[in-house]
Amino acid sequence: MATKPSLAAFTEQLEIEQMEQLGNRVVTKSLLYHLADGEQTTEVGFSTRGQQVLMGEDPRLPKMPDKPTLMDFFKLRFAPAQQHLLQSANLAQKNGLSEKEVLACLLHDIAVAGFIRSDHGYWGAQLIEPYVDEEVSWSVRVHQALRFFPDESVGYEYPQAYINMFGADYELEPYIVDEYERAKDHKWYMTARMICVNDLYSFDPDLIVEIDQFEDIIGRHFKQPAEGLGNDNSPASHMWRTLRRPASAL
Ligand SMILES: [Fe+2]
Ligand SMILES: [Fe+2]
Repeated sequence: MATKPSLAAFTEQLEIEQMEQLGNRVVTKSLLYHLADGEQTTEVGFSTRGQQVLMGEDPRLPKMPDKPTLMDFFKLRFAPAQQHLLQSANLAQKNGLSEKEVLACLLHDIAVAGFIRSDHGYWGAQLIEPYVDEEVSWSVRVHQALRFFPDESVGYEYPQAYINMFGADYELEPYIVDEYERAKDHKWYMTARMICVNDLYSFDPDLIVEIDQFEDIIGRHFKQPAEGLGNDNSPASHMWRTLRRPASAL
């Protein structure tokens, strides 16, 4: 992809800052949600109900509908990290990619936005697997590995940001190399590769993309369960419940 060096440097720096912010957010969350702390217990009012730890809905978080949709999770749980997903999908749309590819970009870092960063491609794929075409979840899974491997055919280089963050001598773990080897000749390789292409240069601090822009694509390609995500007894329901109620004691 032809990009001015200054813009590339800017987006890389922004990505580092965003990742740092995300990282801080996760740490903050884990501290905030450490509900064994007596003061916090009082603060959120459990003690008035004879309850020592939080179970179920968290009064500190935005209230979710009884039958939450993917859109609800974006609006009520994934902010502010959702802009990365929304801008990636927006760029994919501008680049004329298919609806499935746009959805893959929209969901590629869903685990980071709502859950966890480590092995996020795998967590994210598992989270969406019951609800999307296999091509989408497969691509989300392997983007974890593909981001480390250049593909000159689409102008994708090893990210300078990774050199900055992990060091020039960072060595990939064997499972990442194995994943790439399995993926590189796969029929859906280019769908996953498009996640990387629309990921790297997709940050614009002046651009606010709304999830509503993708309502139609979600409607056509994300099988929203009638009972609501988390209530539907799929292999991933527990993950959606955890996103909804991350501090529930059990
Ligand atoms: Fe990612
Ligand atoms: Fe990303």
